[in-house]
Amino acid sequence: MRRSRATGSAGLPDLGGARALVTGASSGIGLEIARALAGAGAEVTMPVRDREKGARAMAEIRRTAPDSRLELADLDLARLDSVRALAAVVNADSRPFEFLVLNAGIVLLGDPVRHVSTDGYELHFQTNFLGHAVLVLAILPLLVAGHARVAVQTSLAAATGRLDLHDTLGIERYTPLRAYGASKLALGLFGVELGRRASDVGVELCHPGIAPDTGIAADLRARASAAQARLSRGLGSTPAQAAEPALAALTGEVGAGRMVAPSGAFQLSGPPAPARRFRRLDDPATAAAVWSFAERVASTA
Ligand SMILES: NC(=O)c1ccc[n+]([C@@H]2O[C@H](COP(=O)([O-])OP(=O)(O)OC[C@H]3O[C@@H](n4cnc5c(N)ncnc54)[C@H](OP(=O)(O)O)[C@@H]3O)[C@@H](O)[C@H]2O)c1
Repeated sequence: MRRSRATGSAGLPDLGGARALVTGASSGIGLEIARALAGAGAEVTMPVRDREKGARAMAEIRRTAPDSRLELADLDLARLDSVRALAAVVNADSRPFEFLVLNAGIVLLGDPVRHVSTDGYELHFQTNFLGHAVLVLAILPLLVAGHARVAVQTSLAAATGRLDLHDTLGIERYTPLRAYGASKLALGLFGVELGRRASDVGVELCHPGIAPDTGIAADLRARASAAQARLSRGLGSTPAQAAEPALAALTGEVGAGRMVAPSGAFQLSGPPAPARRFRRLDDPATAAAVWSFAERVASTA
């Protein structure tokens, strides 16, 4: 067991000497995950699609944790060439990772148009699931070498999501929420299968509940009335609170068949605690199919 730091953040143990990679650390929940890990002494790689935004995020973290060891890297999950390029950079460096957080994500609520990535996949599917899966497969040796703990950031939307691997363009009855739910379910199933296959890697699923003050679902938020914004703030968490399930997934005991979720009503907010995994994640056949799909894409990417 790692000893606690006097100055440790979010109740984390001393993570000095550990390396972490956090996707989506340029804002919102991911920034707070990176802040907590860095505050506990980990060296944190923050792959971002916008270096200026990434630099602002680093400055914000250093405001509260001046000694943070942070580095930026480039990553656009919606482009497999970018995913491959990041994998090449970290593999060339060859230092193991002890922590990986698959946190980056989009949900285009309020935008009725279905978007397709340059690689030919529905945009939620690629950003939230496929880009992450291809990255994991490409850097797996570094995770194995670090006996890494991986936190897989899902969403309550995965609990009711439906996944059709024959419709990766999201053509059938597209809505942003359906596409988001499907992508988060796919990511969760990939995480379950990763945990089953990679015995040297610990994989824990988590979700943040709701955190109204992040960049996600920007179109929807822009249209929300003041009363709606107040209501969702009242029900939800701050980004720092919403980071806690992922941090607990990285450092705590979770248990078989469980995931880390906010412990309040309907898992919307509250301190993190292990909870029963969404039933849709207990589907070994679909998890294996998701894995094979990702492997096929990774081998041609
Ligand atoms: N907030 C909630 O209520 C809520 C609820 C359930 C689940 N979640 C999940 O929590 C995670 C974090 O979301 P958040 O609420 O913190 O929202 P956020 O502030 O918008 O953060 C999303 C992060 O993902 C990054 N990202 C988006 N598309 C990317 C791409 N193509 N390549 C690389 N990075 C990309 C963003 O980078 P840019 O800075 O470049 O945009 C940003 O850093 C997401 O996976 C989300 O699904 C959030």
